[in-house]
Parts: sequence; C-alpha cells; structure tokens
Amino acid sequence: MNIVLPGGAGFIGTHLYKKLQNKNEKITIIDSLNSNIHEKSKVELSETIDFLKCDYADLNKCGQVYLSADVIVLLAAETGMGASQFNNELYFDCNTLKTAKLIDFLRENNSKAHIIVTSSCRIYGEGLYECSEHGSFYPSNRIDEIRSSNWHVICPICKKESKFIANKNNQFFNPVSTYAISKLAQEMTCLINSKSSEIDVTVLRLQNVYGPGQSFQNAYTGLISIFTQRLLNNNSIELYEEGSPGRDFVYVEDVVDVIINCIYSRENSSEKTFDIGSGSILTIENVAVLLSEEIKSKQKILKTKKFRVGDIHIGCADITEAKKSLNWIPKVEFKDGIRNYVNWIKKQENISDKSLEVSKELMNRGILNEIK
Ligand SMILES: NC(=O)c1ccc[n+]([C@@H]2O[C@H](COP(=O)([O-])OP(=O)(O)OC[C@H]3O[C@@H](n4cnc5c(N)ncnc54)[C@H](O)[C@@H]3O)[C@@H](O)[C@H]2O)c1
Ligand SMILES: [Zn+2]
Repeated sequence: MNIVLPGGAGFIGTHLYKKLQNKNEKITIIDSLNSNIHEKSKVELSETIDFLKCDYADLNKCGQVYLSADVIVLLAAETGMGASQFNNELYFDCNTLKTAKLIDFLRENNSKAHIIVTSSCRIYGEGLYECSEHGSFYPSNRIDEIRSSNWHVICPICKKESKFIANKNNQFFNPVSTYAISKLAQEMTCLINSKSSEIDVTVLRLQNVYGPGQSFQNAYTGLISIFTQRLLNNNSIELYEEGSPGRDFVYVEDVVDVIINCIYSRENSSEKTFDIGSGSILTIENVAVLLSEEIKSKQKILKTKKFRVGDIHIGCADITEAKKSLNWIPKVEFKDGIRNYVNWIKKQENISDKSLEVSKELMNRGILNEIK
C-alpha cells in the first residue's frame, strides 16, 4: 500500500510512521517542519521513508505523491487552542482552506484514496449534559457563569450543577474556539466531498493525546507537557478554574493503533466518524498530582481562579463505536503512559519553561483571565 502522511513528522505522525515501517508499506511524509513545533529544520528518517519538506497544500511539489496514494492520513495542522484565537487566519488557512485545496485537487484527478482525518473532540464544545430534573441538554457558551466563578456547567432551567455525559457521535456541534471551528470545517469538507466522489473518508475525533515525543517547543499546546516543564524547572503548577476541568488523556500508541486499524479496514471505517480517547476523565488537578509524584517534585500545585476563553469544562470520549467497528481498545493506563513520558522528557536537552511568557501573552490578548 502507498501511504502518505501530511504532517507525518509531528508528534502523532512520528509514532505512526515508526509502527508502519514494520508493515512493509511505502510511506511518504510531507511536512513543512513548522518552527513552532520543530527545533531543527531537518528530521532523521530511515532510508525506507520518503520525505518531502514542503507545505501539505503545495501541490506543485507533492501533487503526484497524493495521486499515487492509497491512504492519506491527514495530520498536518495548527494545533493550539489558545493561540488560535489571535491567529484566526492562520488556523483557517492551515486546517481548513489547505485541506479544501487538497480535496479539490484529488477530485479533479479522480483520486480513489482513503483519507483518514485526525479531527478533534473540541468540535463538540461542552458536549452533552444532564440535569437530574430537566433531562439532557447541550450547554451554550458558559463564559457568563465562569465570570462569576461558577466553573461547572449548570442547567439552563433550574440553574443547578449538571452532569457531563460524553463526547459522542451525532451530538450537536458547538465549538468554542477558532481551532475547533477550523477542525470541524475540515472534517465536514472531507466528509461532504466523499459523498460525490471516489474518495473515502474516515474521521477520528481525538481527545488529549500524550506521550513521548510531544513537542515541548510549543508552550501553547499539551497540558502534560506544560506541567512537566514547570516541575522540571522547579516551578509550581498553576491550575486554571481551581483545578476542576476534566480531560480524557489517550496515549499516543493507542491512537496510532486505531489509525492503523482504519488503514487496514477501509470498508468498516469509511464514511464514519469515531470518538477516540481513553473513555475516562481525569481532572487537571489529578494530572498535576500524578505528574508531580512521578517526577518526585516538591513544587506547589496552586488552584487559581484563572480561566481561558475557549476552554471547555470537561471532555471525554464515548469509545463504544470505535471498539465495535474498529476492533480497538486503548491499552495504556495513564500511570504507565505518564512514566514513559517523564522518562523520555528527562533525557531531552533544553527543557526551558516558556509557560510564563505564554501566560503573559494570553493575558494581554484577553484569552487568559483571572477572577479577583
Ligand atoms: N495531540 C493532540 O492532543 C491532538 C488532539 C486532537 C487532535 N489532534 C490532531 O492530530 C493531528 C496531529 O497532531 P500532533 O499532535 O501530531 O501535532 P504536531 O503539531 O506535533 O504535528 C503536526 C505536524 O504538521 C506539520 N505541519 C503544520 N502545518 C503544516 C503545513 N501547512 N504543511 C505541512 N506540514 C505542516 C508540523 O510541522 C508538524 O510536524 C492534528 O491534525 C491535530 O489537530 C491532536
Ligand atoms: Zn434543571
């Protein structure tokens, strides 16, 4: 099989191509080596992998590669939620317009490729909630409640705290950041076009992916990466929303496994969207404590009343469909995944802590706020 990986030199892509190498497929990576993510302007790859250093939508350079592809795993993206809010054009350009350009090109040339889109659970916004008295509902933007220090999602009728259900297929989309909107437009563009062409599309809506290799260059993304950098530089961790937000952390090798299952089961995965995560929730306070124990840090974990516009309160995947149709289950427990990550990051050089700079910028731009 001929497999093309736009964005394949990034975090998930690197784990993916390493595993695919054992399967004797022809692999081509197309990656611009975005300087936010990559410290070096080169990647070291084995001789069996072709690498094109260019924009994934530079069709003069990589058009022929796409046309020879059986499978395209679309990984190239601008990924920071916070930074997306003051780089709107960049995010729509990279995540949406460039994908649209690629789809036009594939259609014009009668491609029959299977495109696997790595989308995000953020497209749901807050997801589905339930009030014990008034039933289920999709919360609207909770910014007004946040401004009065009420971090939890409340029922619009009785105003009582309500219960998060899950991020799940066929839910109402209510993205609350530019990143999320750009990813929703990307996946919908791919899916809509697959209906009237020979392209097949599978969408994977990923929760928070973590593991060795996650860039610590970009201090706008990766909660675990940011917390680890703080602790390894002997700084305290500041938890937003008093530590209450909950996230679903899925280990990168588990994500790679599900992508590979999609590659080899085109019939079962095409024209479908899947929610991918561990299926369980950890609060950001849980994460900070577990990381701190793993690092054996004595630094304080501070619960602050800071919050970011564009953050949701809780995210967690319902993985029933992925388990059933893709014959997949996430295998790596958080405590094991975090140990692998910490062992890896301790071996890296220049783990500087850029979080203060980033917080200052987010505050100046109105993304990060604090309730006094
Ligand atoms: N990591 C997560 O927690 C997570 C969660 C949900 C969704 N996703 C999605 O998974 C995909 C991969 O994420 P990742 O964590 O590996 O990100 P990453 O930033 O590590 O990798 C993305 C890669 O794309 C490259 N790239 C960016 N713009 C490009 C362009 N215009 N042309 C060519 N290459 C370009 C970058 O150089 C980088 O190597 C993305 O689509 C992201 O939206 C990731
Ligand atoms: Zn109610």
